[in-house]
Amino acid sequence: MHLLNERINQALSRGGLSATAFWLLKILFRIEVHFLYAFDLANRSATSKTSTHHPGFDFISLHTQHDIDSTPPALIAQLNEQSGWSVNRLIEQGSTVYALVDDSNIVSQLNIGWQPIITVDSPTHLTFTLSPKDAFLGYLFTYPKYRGCGAATKLVEKVCEDAAFRKYSRIVTHIRSTNAPSLNTFKKIGWKRIGWILTSTNGRLLSTRSAKKMGVHIAKANHPANDG
Ligand SMILES: CC(C)(COP(=O)(O)OP(=O)(O)OC[C@H]1O[C@@H](n2cnc3c(N)ncnc32)[C@H](O)[C@@H]1OP(=O)(O)O)[C@@H](O)C(=O)NCCC(=O)NCCS
Repeated sequence: MHLLNERINQALSRGGLSATAFWLLKILFRIEVHFLYAFDLANRSATSKTSTHHPGFDFISLHTQHDIDSTPPALIAQLNEQSGWSVNRLIEQGSTVYALVDDSNIVSQLNIGWQPIITVDSPTHLTFTLSPKDAFLGYLFTYPKYRGCGAATKLVEKVCEDAAFRKYSRIVTHIRSTNAPSLNTFKKIGWKRIGWILTSTNGRLLSTRSAKKMGVHIAKANHPANDG
């Protein structure tokens, strides 16, 4: 009964009907849909809509071992829990871990891979071969007690600013079609859907509509992910 109530509430929230339809598709036909979203960094100032109600959290970015060494170990431990891989390993691979921090707590975090080929393991083991000057966003996560106060919005906007500063021209990510809060977050700040990824629930890659045309080549990977 509790689960049913939760499902009804989700269906009634913004983006909930579409999320429910994709959830039914998964249950009935064992097909999972992920969307490929991208943000054109040249459009940043035109579409930036920073949330006005987020509190003043500190923004941190970890690019180097020195950044890790100068960050309190308790924060690194929290980041490790939601980064896919450890922060150390991500940085060794050339990724950056970004977060908003509230004193001694991580509020919201994400990883950016700057590499031309990114490997992910959700919805299945896939490689994304990006266009030059593309970056890839993964593992966006806001700790439950901070949700709904604009943290993810603020963090993604700050990261876009940093990527533009580093002369990247686009950030790409993939989002589960049933994840209304995440889709709402990205849409709200001007990210656009550029493709679809269809997989079977047993891990087969079925189709990658529009992605290649939009400069992202997606293929089945032979080995598990080593990126976030
Ligand atoms: C998705 C997630 C990162 C959003 O974080 P957040 O800090 O709560 O997001 P924000 O407060 O910036 O909200 C941004 C928008 O998301 C939407 N949103 C937030 N919570 C929502 C919810 N429960 N249902 C529907 N939409 C929601 C709203 O449209 C909101 O915009 P608004 O403030 O103008 O209404 C967070 O829910 C989360 O960590 N979820 C679990 C991990 C996950 O799914 N990560 C994304 C992987 S792609």
